[in-house]
Amino acid sequence: MAKIGIFYGSSTGNTEAVANQIKDAFGDADIFEINADALTNIASYDVVLLGSSTWGFGDLQDEWEDVLDSLDGLDLTGKKVSFFGTGDQFNYDETFCDAMGILYEALQNSGANFIGKVLTDSYQFSASRAVVDDQFVGLALDEDNQNEMTDDRIQAWVQQLKSEIA
Ligand SMILES: Cc1cc2nc3c(=O)[nH]c(=O)nc-3n(C[C@H](O)[C@H](O)[C@H](O)COP(=O)(O)O)c2cc1C
Repeated sequence: MAKIGIFYGSSTGNTEAVANQIKDAFGDADIFEINADALTNIASYDVVLLGSSTWGFGDLQDEWEDVLDSLDGLDLTGKKVSFFGTGDQFNYDETFCDAMGILYEALQNSGANFIGKVLTDSYQFSASRAVVDDQFVGLALDEDNQNEMTDDRIQAWVQQLKSEIA
């Protein structure tokens, strides 16, 4: 069984809550709030899920910002990596869930095998740094406007990840 590690940064609790829902949907996964110490744990996992909310206009969540430079040197060769993010597609429709894109970009030289891409169909936004080749690089969640869709989105994504991990 692949070891799954969930690493999240959350300023007002939304990403923390969805990170725990993702953990519950997997059943067997470890969860860490991101900081320099937590980052050293990434090496022990086969599957790594990184979650961040987006702040400012398209900025990483603060605790992720603090470790961003360290992501550059990570060796994730042989690991499967995906992202989840919370954002607000109506008030920030040009920077929706940009933080997922920032994390994805930071790991381009890490050797990671990226999994868990998601179609953009059920969202309404103009632009997102997290969209690459017409798909989100991970799971975008909008607790501000589409909270009622979160459960289903998480269940579907975790099923998708399980099949991509198998
Ligand atoms: C001042 C402010 C700036 C924000 N900027 C963005 C943004 O650029 N893009 C986005 O998608 N969401 C943005 N949001 C929405 C938050 O990302 C969203 O509320 C998220 O669920 C917060 O998660 P957290 O509690 O885990 O930090 C912003 C919210 C606030 C209050």
